[in-house]
Amino acid sequence: MRTIAIINQKGGCGKTTVSINLSAALAAKGYRTLLVDMDPQSHCAVGLAVPEEQIEQSIYDVLIGMGRGEPIRINEILWQISERFELAPSSIDLAAFEQQMSGVKDRENCLRKVLDGIRDEYDYVVLDCPPSVGLLTFNSLRSASDVVVPVEMGYFSLHGLSKQLQTLKVLCEQCEQKINVMVLASMYDIRTKMGREILAELKKHFSDKMFSTVVNFNTKLKEAASLGQPISEYDSASKGYKDFLGLADELIGTNTQMNRAELVNSLQAKLNVISASAEELLATIQPAAKPEQPKPQLTLDEKLADFYGVRQINGQVVFTTLYPRAQTVQIAGDFNAWSPESTRLERLGDNGKWQLALPLEKGIYKYRLVVDGHWQQDPYNDKTEMNPYGELNSVLHVQ
Ligand SMILES: Nc1ncnc2c1ncn2[C@@H]1O[C@H](COP(=O)(O)OP(=O)(O)OP(=O)(O)O)[C@@H](O)[C@H]1O
Ligand SMILES: [Mg+2]
Repeated sequence: MRTIAIINQKGGCGKTTVSINLSAALAAKGYRTLLVDMDPQSHCAVGLAVPEEQIEQSIYDVLIGMGRGEPIRINEILWQISERFELAPSSIDLAAFEQQMSGVKDRENCLRKVLDGIRDEYDYVVLDCPPSVGLLTFNSLRSASDVVVPVEMGYFSLHGLSKQLQTLKVLCEQCEQKINVMVLASMYDIRTKMGREILAELKKHFSDKMFSTVVNFNTKLKEAASLGQPISEYDSASKGYKDFLGLADELIGTNTQMNRAELVNSLQAKLNVISASAEELLATIQPAAKPEQPKPQLTLDEKLADFYGVRQINGQVVFTTLYPRAQTVQIAGDFNAWSPESTRLERLGDNGKWQLALPLEKGIYKYRLVVDGHWQQDPYNDKTEMNPYGELNSVLHVQ
């Protein structure tokens, strides 16, 4: 069994699209495939038309059960999507996993132990990770034989790539097993000059650390997701499906081709090379002028309803987060001398959402959330920095 984690801290770079459609392509090629949704946003269920209100138990229950020494069988939560393709859905509770596992021994190995129990039942397990680095992503890494990092072909996504890979490297250094890490160009639009230039540069620098298959921007992929179907079902003649069949072939090949043995070299070496390449690459590419986008007129409430994370609104910095089971959520940062007592988030209704607005001056700040007394990185802010204790502080740039 190979376990492929689809990881990138950056939101919206195509992780879920790759996870769903790579799984579908592997199943279509005759492999028993399990897709595990490790993201509390539950986008795999949405993209595969699994009705969220009917998900009684999710991967959250399986992971928590394993962490507490009261395991339940993963088979009990699975949904059959098509022949040989099953989904272990997530649920919003998963957002509280890190907090609930705080202090639990071996909490980073819950998923690995769960997957060890079904090693003979699947050929491929695909893990769709959240856009943050936390215990869920770390659990995925500890289980993975392969990591695929989808990179959207645009300057602004490349800008964070080196930092993202560095963070991945730090996490991977704490894994015992060897992992193949490969970069995948996603949402490639051959019609744009910028896209072509970036792909050419990426290929030059990343060479064998990059899939030669590219996932093109294809509106059929978007349509398929909105109708709750993998591309294999929605349009098997589409370019989108062809890309994923190619990706599946390439991935399968990396396991057997002896001349690609360097792919199983230690992560340390591999990621150092990738990170250095990303830095070099950035130095060579000029950002295109960003076209002016007309701003839609939204009310403050509409703006707030639309996100989790940190935003600047009307001169205030608004922190919004999701902890359905928490009693208290506070913020500690360099703006309040790291004392969380005075900065409590307010619970908004009973949907698990918490919020606080702070009047912060321009500047760069570091902070952590304190959830029921447990300090942790903000799961909805992908800008992070390692602190002296080896943990991640969230970073906030107020402009
Ligand atoms: N190759 C593609 N062609 C066209 N649209 C795409 C492609 N890949 C992704 N998209 C669209 O881009 C959006 C973001 O993609 P997706 O949800 O897969 O990203 P993600 O990395 O999983 O996001 P998140 O970080 O929030 O989990 C979706 O609307 C998806 O349909
Ligand atoms: Mg996703």
